[in-house]
Amino acid sequence: MKLANDSITHIKPYVAGNVTPDGFIFNHNLASNENPFGCSPIVSDVLKTYTATHSYPDGNAIGLRKCIAHTFNVPFQTVLCGAGSEEILHLLARTYATAGDEILIPHYGFSVYAIAALSVGAMPVFIPREDDVLTLSVDTILTCVTPKTRMIYLDHPGNPIGNFINRSDLTRLIQSIPPHILLVLDGAYAEYMTEDENYTTGHEFVEHYPNVVITRSFSKAYGLAGLRLGWLHAAPNIINMINRVRAPFNTSSLTQQAGIAALADHAFVEKTVIHTHHWRKKLEDTLTKANISFIPCSTNFTLIHAPEHDSKRNATQLYHDLGRKGIIVRPMTMYQLPDYLRISIGTEKAMKALFIEITSKSDHTP
Ligand SMILES: Cc1ncc(COP(=O)(O)O)c(C=O)c1O
Repeated sequence: MKLANDSITHIKPYVAGNVTPDGFIFNHNLASNENPFGCSPIVSDVLKTYTATHSYPDGNAIGLRKCIAHTFNVPFQTVLCGAGSEEILHLLARTYATAGDEILIPHYGFSVYAIAALSVGAMPVFIPREDDVLTLSVDTILTCVTPKTRMIYLDHPGNPIGNFINRSDLTRLIQSIPPHILLVLDGAYAEYMTEDENYTTGHEFVEHYPNVVITRSFSKAYGLAGLRLGWLHAAPNIINMINRVRAPFNTSSLTQQAGIAALADHAFVEKTVIHTHHWRKKLEDTLTKANISFIPCSTNFTLIHAPEHDSKRNATQLYHDLGRKGIIVRPMTMYQLPDYLRISIGTEKAMKALFIEITSKSDHTP
């Protein structure tokens, strides 16, 4: 007897990155875009002294939302917190889409978008990408809009592709879509975009375009992936609607305290971002010397192209060879990109170990 909703049976379960290939013991996890420094020492102190396990948290996360509002210079009543930005991505679909609606999702976009769409019975419609660096164009997005479109998710910058729509094109997109379509700009990697002048997180649009919302994460540059904390910047009416469906205590008191502490240590985020850019550039140089192509980006990962016809270092071969050396990277089969691998920027030690392996795969070596 069939019990689950039809749309749920079409969902392909999310596959996490930290899955070790059979029999491998890994020393270096470069599969999940995590912070190689862990978290700020100020957060560690909070974790050591936390005692409030017996009390329910503040369901409105007032202290944390005030801190976020202050740090990011946005009004307090436009901030909502969630158990990771992933929870917020789901809550948006639950609040704004239903069976029969279409939700636009970049082809090869973050896999949770399709899961969120299908979980409310909506239809994910994949926006095609162009050229060999898989660019997403505003014109193509607009051609995908139909009378049934209710939402657009944009990973901004993308995961796993890493590219983004520049400020002027984003403005054109926002001005071109009908106001009843919710545009979700997912800024999980926004902290790393310091070097791209044409990038904007989009916070400036929220006040004037009430159908534009921004999701942000504490999992990457803040190093709090294990605590699950993300936030939404949206018009107060949207926050009000989501508050009707979200779990009343969706962020724990420990997470709220850790979030406040993380925001107090801007130097930690800065150190993370500098390290990431430094080692990503070194990774790009190493790949170029080894004649392995990749998609240029500014995030804390690099997507490399290792096609099947290269018997010595195709994606499957590389994944297993690296795994045997204790380095785990992310295969992209789940994203229908079997010829690609996503490599997160890790510690100096991990990156040096990785470079030795990549260099040994150079097509100049016998
Ligand atoms: C593009 C993108 N959005 C959202 C998330 C979810 O992040 P969080 O840990 O805040 O739920 C991720 C996580 O990898 C991501 O890559």
